[in-house]
Amino acid sequence: MIKIEFGNSFVTDAVVDINYVKVVPQTQLPEFIAVNQGENFSISYGMKKKDIVFGLGENVGGMNKRGGIYESFCFDEFNHTPDKKSLYAAHNLIIVDGERKFGLFIDHPGKVRFDVGFTDIDTLEISMENPNFNLYIITGNSLKEIVKKFRKAIGISYIPPKWAFGFQQSRWSYPDMTSITEIADKFRNSQIPCDTIYMDIDYMDNYKNFTIDKAKFPEFSEFVKFIKNKGFRLIPIIDAGCKKEKGYDISDEGIENGYYCLDKDGKPFVGAVWPGHVYFPDFMNSKVRTWFGDKYKILIDQGIEGFWNDMNEPAIFYSEGGIKKAFEKIKSMEGKNIGVDLYFQMKDTMEGISHSIEDYKSFYHNVDGELINHYDLHNLYGYNMTRAAGESFVKNYPDKRILLFSRASYVGMHRYGGIWTGDNKSWWEHLLLNIKMMPSINMLGFLYSGADVGGFGCDASAELVIRWTQFGVFTPLLRNHTTLGTRAQEPFAFDVESTDIFRSAINLRYALIPYIYSEFMKAAKESECYFKSLAYEFSDDISRRVEDQVLVGDSVMLAPIYTPNTFSRNVWMPEDMLLWKVGDYTDFNYSLHPKGHHFIDIELDEIPLFIRKNKILVIGNHSHNIDSIDQSEITVIAYVQDLATYRLYNDDGVTTNYMNGDYTELDITIKIQEDSKPQVLTNLSENSIIKKINYLIVNSKGQLFKL
Ligand code: GLC
Repeated sequence: MIKIEFGNSFVTDAVVDINYVKVVPQTQLPEFIAVNQGENFSISYGMKKKDIVFGLGENVGGMNKRGGIYESFCFDEFNHTPDKKSLYAAHNLIIVDGERKFGLFIDHPGKVRFDVGFTDIDTLEISMENPNFNLYIITGNSLKEIVKKFRKAIGISYIPPKWAFGFQQSRWSYPDMTSITEIADKFRNSQIPCDTIYMDIDYMDNYKNFTIDKAKFPEFSEFVKFIKNKGFRLIPIIDAGCKKEKGYDISDEGIENGYYCLDKDGKPFVGAVWPGHVYFPDFMNSKVRTWFGDKYKILIDQGIEGFWNDMNEPAIFYSEGGIKKAFEKIKSMEGKNIGVDLYFQMKDTMEGISHSIEDYKSFYHNVDGELINHYDLHNLYGYNMTRAAGESFVKNYPDKRILLFSRASYVGMHRYGGIWTGDNKSWWEHLLLNIKMMPSINMLGFLYSGADVGGFGCDASAELVIRWTQFGVFTPLLRNHTTLGTRAQEPFAFDVESTDIFRSAINLRYALIPYIYSEFMKAAKESECYFKSLAYEFSDDISRRVEDQVLVGDSVMLAPIYTPNTFSRNVWMPEDMLLWKVGDYTDFNYSLHPKGHHFIDIELDEIPLFIRKNKILVIGNHSHNIDSIDQSEITVIAYVQDLATYRLYNDDGVTTNYMNGDYTELDITIKIQEDSKPQVLTNLSENSIIKKINYLIVNSKGQLFKL
């Protein structure tokens, strides 16, 4: 990967391994890329008709970004509609996959705009408002090779504890001990596995970070233990803004030490989020990161083992300056004849108060003594909040894995935590968006990721939550979350029949843990993707354009249902495949399908799981949570035409000992010669945690061998 510097770029720490980077002068810019220095600075590429363009991580649009216009500007966007240009992340990696294959990573903390053949059908134009950036150009023979080179340079992905792969339940809010206990008991009584329950902002005292509302949780650490005894971990939210309040230690300490962002007069900048007036910690300053990061200890000391960082774009509902200006404008309209134009100006004035560019331009970061305007560094804010937490975890708890994920992100944040995709809605379209986004997010290294399953905004139907959960079974972060006032959408919130379907799907998730965890860990260690578009592994023209199917790890393809009242769908099989329609995972039924287009029936209680040719899936057993799974027996399910191999990775799941080689790799080889019985070879050792392996092997004629 080559790096070309333009202007004087801010050091983002996105790229950390310079062994993979060769710095070259601007004169060595490849001839196919043009640099245009007009009003805005831009680079462009003339796309060929058949070029496909992947990348941009968390954003709207398809896996193939061609034909759209996108922006990297981290934004509290609560309406993920197709006309939007950015969501919460700035993932500036774009990959052209055509006759010429290359990736571009624009390392720039300000706004970047990607016009991918929208204005001119054959032109990819990337523009920046400010000409200081580093351009990385990554060449390779395939999408996979390009992504891998990029990933090696940006460092290894964050590894959560294994229990974070369990089912997770959230809502804004289960605000107190009674509601949390009730949810925990409902999971156990309905025999639906679950590992965590989330605590949204209402657990805090007046929305103050790192505090607990004593009226709701008189003995917080006792309560954490009590819930843990029931087999759940509690995961509290932390917001970026800290309440402005004399006597609140975080507020006072930050002010005393100059840890908050400053306005143009050098006073702490005040915006408003959930707590009302807040200060914003200056996460661009390493001292502030240490200070804020160490505050997580307050909750960890009370038994907490995971966090979600929110509102860190940062979201600013309003600032006093913004309100003042808006009133002045509205006042200036008073007494005038309000026609349609003025009416819309009034409306836009009020709506424009939130997350306004003017506010983002009105405060500053202290970077090594130099004051830098927030707007120029905007996309690094959430990244550095999560980095603050991540760095402190490594420092204070070097042996322990702590769950951490964030709403806003920039390239490089994947080393410190995962992401969730923010405030989606209970819309079928958002289930499809989730499916399309996962491979793109993975390219950027955000392996631990997922959407709010069932949708955050709006009421959800049982059918939508079922179909979404059936896809969520495969997302590393599997969390059902919804907002205030919406219909309950926990897996037991609907009718008995739906509860049964949820139970089967979630049981499958737990049974799949050996495979999911193994594929996740291998992807992290080898700079690979866990979720992949078909284009990642198959180079034929059809596979490269499939938008609603994904590969999960090495062996599995998914073709989820993402529309209502739908019990069948078209599936493109890029090679011969074995289809297992999973209801109860202990019932292995299958059909073989040759490479090609197929129309398949899928009932509401079925998850269509496609096993690739000469590939192996490993399943275990479910339990009520990850810690209690019996790992002594596994079942190897394989579709073998001649030879299949698989490496099953495992480790203790809670410590960082895997970094020192403390993990196991079980190698499984299955050979079939003509019509003979399969030959199985493993390196299972006597001291392995696995004591028994069952085999369900299907050969190319569709015969099943149970060994
Ligand atoms: C934001 C988050 C959402 C959370 C809410 C209240 O909208 O994205 O997940 O529930 O704030 O904290």
